[in-house]
Amino acid sequence: MSEAEPVRVLAPARILGIETSCDETAAAVIENGRMQLSSVVASQADLHKKYGGVFPEVASRQHVQSIYAVIEQALQQAHISLGDVDAIAVTRGPGLAGSLVVGMNAAKGLALASGLPLIGVNHLEGHIYSAWVLRSDVLSPPAEPRFPLLALLVSGGHTELNLMTDHITYRRLGATVDDAAGEAFDKVARLLGLSYPGGPSVQYAAEKGNPQAFSFPRARLDGTWNFSFSGLKTAVLRVVRQYEEEKRDLPVADLAASFQAAVVDVLLTKTLKAAHTFKAQEILLAGGVSANKALREAFITQKEFKVHIPDLALCTDNAAMIASAGYYRFALGQQDPIDLDVLPTWPLS
Ligand code: KG4
Ligand code: ZN
Repeated sequence: MSEAEPVRVLAPARILGIETSCDETAAAVIENGRMQLSSVVASQADLHKKYGGVFPEVASRQHVQSIYAVIEQALQQAHISLGDVDAIAVTRGPGLAGSLVVGMNAAKGLALASGLPLIGVNHLEGHIYSAWVLRSDVLSPPAEPRFPLLALLVSGGHTELNLMTDHITYRRLGATVDDAAGEAFDKVARLLGLSYPGGPSVQYAAEKGNPQAFSFPRARLDGTWNFSFSGLKTAVLRVVRQYEEEKRDLPVADLAASFQAAVVDVLLTKTLKAAHTFKAQEILLAGGVSANKALREAFITQKEFKVHIPDLALCTDNAAMIASAGYYRFALGQQDPIDLDVLPTWPLS
């Protein structure tokens, strides 16, 4: 801890987190902002596979079917009952309206029945706080991220750089002007004939490929902290069409590896530059794409900044991250009204 930063003493509390913003029904219990007592995620990925993406109506119906069992399981795994919880944190947005409503209504029902405070959490903020969460079986827990912190959030719907000078304080420096990084992975997977979800499929294909086989463009957007991935996706499309016209076999592994290398290069270079410019102490990488092996390795092996990356299981959507962010909101005194509404397009800052 730097000398300027005061020692933080927050009230001990257990938070039940609930997350249903997209296609994962999740609940978790977090103690004191970091210690994971339980985390349950019921994935719908198999249900959506045949649509090649998330089908909103199917997602909300499945959330309704799973939500109470998932919450029950999270309490059971934590060996506690609702009476041992101090507050209920729930994802308020952004996300699919019909999905968000299911988690919000479940949280409201529990809050009403128990008298516990209800806390609405931003899903993107949750992803950032996934780097605070500690699994109970980790022997030497990593240190807490330190402010000022440069946070790169890379998910299926968002790609943005935020400067955090304290808990729950975000200054958005830049974001994607077109596709999110995860969206680019998903679209390129489809172009290459790889299965849904696209990110992991591209990663596995890339493991057998040469990242230098194709020299794909890197959109630097100098002078801004924004990103752009649509030109890169179009460059992959052009190569695919050319191979199709020439009736040649598509070099899937080389294309996946070269595409992934371009994404990793842009994300790392820009994040390091922003961290220097804004005098960040440390950097944080979060969101579904932070599960990507090549991206994690690139961030871990750079020597300029200490980096925080969530445990692999916490990179994609989960409720432990919502409970963690909820704890810091709770510690700041946030308590939302019982008629809290969902916000499907809620920006982080
Ligand atoms: O954060 P997330 O679970 O959901 C959103 O909030 O969007 O992110 C999902 C995104 C998808 O686009 C998925 O393809 C991508 O994260 N993703 C990956 C990997 N695992 C998930 N992208 C690249 N490599 C991965 N291993
Ligand atoms: Zn997410």
